[in-house]
Amino acid sequence: MTATAPANIDTGAATHPLDLATTEEFRAVREVLADAGLLGDSVRYCFAGLEEPDKAAVLAHTDGDRVDRRFRVLLLDMSGAPSRDVVVSASRGEIDSAVELDPATSGQLPIIDSEFEIMEEIVLASTEWCDALRRRGIDPATVRAVPLSAGAYYPEETGRRMARVLGFRQDHEKDSPWAHPVDGVVAYVDLVAREVSRVVDHTPLPVPDEPGNFDDPEQVGPQRTTLKPIEITQPEGVSFSLEGNRLRWEGWDLRIGFNEREGLTLHQIGIHGRPVVYRASIAEMVVPYADPSPVRFWQNYFDAGEYMFARYANSLELGCDCLGEIRYMDVVVADDDGSPRTITNAICLHEEDFGILWKHSDLFTNASETRRQRRMVISFFTTIGNYDYGFYWYLYLDGTIACESKLTGIPFTSAYPSEGHPYATQVAPGLGLPYHQHLFSARLDMAVDGQRNAVEECEAVALPMGEDNPWGNAFTESRTRLTHEAEAQRLADPGRGRTWQVINPESTNRHGRPVAYALHSEGSPTLLADDRSVVAGRAAFATKHLWVTAYDADQRYPAGDYVNQHAGGAGLPTWTAADRPLDEDGRGADVVLWHTFGLTHVPRPEDWPIMPVDYAGFRLMPVGFFDRNPTLDVPPSSNGHCHS
Ligand code: NI
Repeated sequence: MTATAPANIDTGAATHPLDLATTEEFRAVREVLADAGLLGDSVRYCFAGLEEPDKAAVLAHTDGDRVDRRFRVLLLDMSGAPSRDVVVSASRGEIDSAVELDPATSGQLPIIDSEFEIMEEIVLASTEWCDALRRRGIDPATVRAVPLSAGAYYPEETGRRMARVLGFRQDHEKDSPWAHPVDGVVAYVDLVAREVSRVVDHTPLPVPDEPGNFDDPEQVGPQRTTLKPIEITQPEGVSFSLEGNRLRWEGWDLRIGFNEREGLTLHQIGIHGRPVVYRASIAEMVVPYADPSPVRFWQNYFDAGEYMFARYANSLELGCDCLGEIRYMDVVVADDDGSPRTITNAICLHEEDFGILWKHSDLFTNASETRRQRRMVISFFTTIGNYDYGFYWYLYLDGTIACESKLTGIPFTSAYPSEGHPYATQVAPGLGLPYHQHLFSARLDMAVDGQRNAVEECEAVALPMGEDNPWGNAFTESRTRLTHEAEAQRLADPGRGRTWQVINPESTNRHGRPVAYALHSEGSPTLLADDRSVVAGRAAFATKHLWVTAYDADQRYPAGDYVNQHAGGAGLPTWTAADRPLDEDGRGADVVLWHTFGLTHVPRPEDWPIMPVDYAGFRLMPVGFFDRNPTLDVPPSSNGHCHS
C-alpha cells in the first residue's frame, strides 16, 4: 500500500535512527494516513511511536547516513469497523504495512481518552445502573464513572470492545470521589454499542462519607513551619552533556528515547567506550487486585499495554518534582486524533550526590581517604487514573545501572464492611484500600562488551560439614549457565543471594574471567493469583522474576502487542515455547532479559488520603567488567564542608 509522497516533508531532520519523534514527523505521519483514507471520522489513534530500525541497522549507522524514520500507529475505529496496525515512513511519505486486526483472536487496542469521555453518558443512560444507585440513596448525576479495562472473562464478550465501570460519589466540585466508592455494583459497558450490557448489583454497601481531599487546608490542618530550605547548587554547572538525545556523563554514553507505551527508553548504554545494554525499558506492567467478590474479581490493569500510560506523562516543575541543576527534555506524543502534542519538561535529567562512594582510614599507613558517590538520574512521572508512577533510571560512577519505580497517588478504594475484610485495609470509617500488586516487566536487551552474551545463575551454596569442611564454615558460589529459553524462566531466591550474570564469554578481564554484569533482583513476590486464573494467563511474564529470550526485533511486549481483552498466552509464553538456544557452542547469543519486579501492596492507613512514595526496582552491577575499582580516579570533594 503506497500513498503519494507529500512534497518536501520537513520531518525535523532526524540525523540518528533513534532521535526523539518530532511534531513535524507526527504531522507527516497523519497526512500519509489521511491521504490513504485510513482516518475516517470514527478513527482514533491508540498509539503512535517511532518504529525503531532493526538493531543491526542502528549499530551500523554512522554520522551522515540517510535515516528512514518509520512510525507505528494503532488505529481504532470507534464505530466497530476493524482496527489497524500501521507502519508509516515519515521520511518517504509511504505506508509500509497496514494490518487489519481481528479482535476475536488478537485482543483489543488500548482504551483511549475519547472513550473515557463518553463513559458517564453511557452509564447514565442505563436504567439498571441508575436504579442501582438510587437504591443506595445516591443521585446518579453525582457519581463519577471510572472506566476500567475488562480483561477476558466471558465468552460472550469475545470480539466486543468492553470496559467495566465502578462508581465514586462526588459530593461537590472539589470533592475527591475516591473517598466515596459506590461498592457492590459494577457496570459492563460495550464501547462500540455505547451501552451498558450488564449491571452486576451484588451488595448495597454503605458509601463512606469522610472526605479524602489531600489539598484542602480544612481537612489537612495547618502546614508545619519547621522545615528550613535545602538548596542544591552546582556553581560550575553540570558534569553531563546533552546533544540531541545523546547523554554523556562521567564515561557513560547513551541515547534517551520516549514513547507513550513504555515511557523512557534508554539505548546503547555504554561506559568508557564499552557497550553494556543495547536497549532498556519498562515494557509492561500489571496491577492485579486480590478481592474475589463478584464486583471486583476482574480488577487487573495493564497500565502499559491497555492504557499506554506514558501518554499521561507529567510536565515536571523545577523545585517540586526535581531539585538542583536540572535539564529537561520535551517529548512529543500523538493525541487520539493523531495531532502531535508536546509534553514540555517530560524527562528530567540531573546528577545527584549519593553519599559515600568509598572510604577508609588505615591502621598502619595512616591513609585516610573518602570519596563521594554520584549518580546521573533520568526520570519521568506519569498519572494513570488514581495512581502516579515515577520511573527513575540511575547511572553510577562505579558502573552500576539501576531502575527505580516510585509509586504514589491515591490507592484504589472500596467500601470496608463493619465485619472486617480479608482483602482490604480500613483507612477511614467504612473505607477500604484493597490489596493488590504492581508488577513491572523490565526489558533489558543486554550487550555486555558486545551483542553476544550468555546468562549464568549465580548463588551462594552452603557446604555440609565433612572431610573437606571439618569446621562447617564453608560456602561457595554456584554458577549455572541458562542454555535454553525453557530453563531460563527463573524465580529469585534471596536466601541464596541469587543473581543472574550476563557474561560475555569472549571478552575476558585481566584475571582471565569473562566480563559480566549481574542483575540483582529485590526478590519481592511474583504474581500471587492462581496459575489457572485469567490474569495469570494474560500476565504470564509476572509469574517469574526472570525470563531470557533470544533477540527478535518483533518481540517487544511481554504480554503481547494487543493486551486489552486478550485471552492470554501472548508474548513470553508463546515466544519461549520454541525453547530457542541461548548459548551457541558456549559463546552465548544475542539475548534479552525480562525482569519482573514490583510491590505487593497491602495498604497501610498511612497510604490515605495520598500515598507517600513507595519504591521497587533492580540493579545491574558490573562483575569483573572492570579489572579493579573503576573509581580510584575520583578526586576528593573540594567542598568546604569536607575541609573545615
Ligand atoms: Ni499500590
